[in-house]
Amino acid sequence: MSDPFVFAADLKDIRVGNTFKVCFPDHTPILLANVDGTIYAVDDTCTHEDSSLALGCLRGDKVKCTLHGSWFSVISGEPSEEPADEPLQRYQVKIKNEQVWVNLTPL
Ligand code: FES
Repeated sequence: MSDPFVFAADLKDIRVGNTFKVCFPDHTPILLANVDGTIYAVDDTCTHEDSSLALGCLRGDKVKCTLHGSWFSVISGEPSEEPADEPLQRYQVKIKNEQVWVNLTPL
């Protein structure tokens, strides 16, 4: 069975407290977020409308959608502010040789 993880980014490009958007062929864009040194991966597209969460800021484990102000946990995917009421898809992350690898099958 082949390795389900695909290369997403170099670890050095995702500083603590920041996010990083990655586009893959035939897949929705993924948002990588560095929360206190741990990398999380969720869909980059807000579940309310089609806004990129990479445009928003990360506070703790929550990223803000700049279009209407919903916040999402990058750990659970859950929104904590309306108008969004659907969670983000989450993805498994693996760090290997200072690189971030993501399994594009949602958790
Ligand atoms: S598009 Fe994100 S809250 Fe509306």
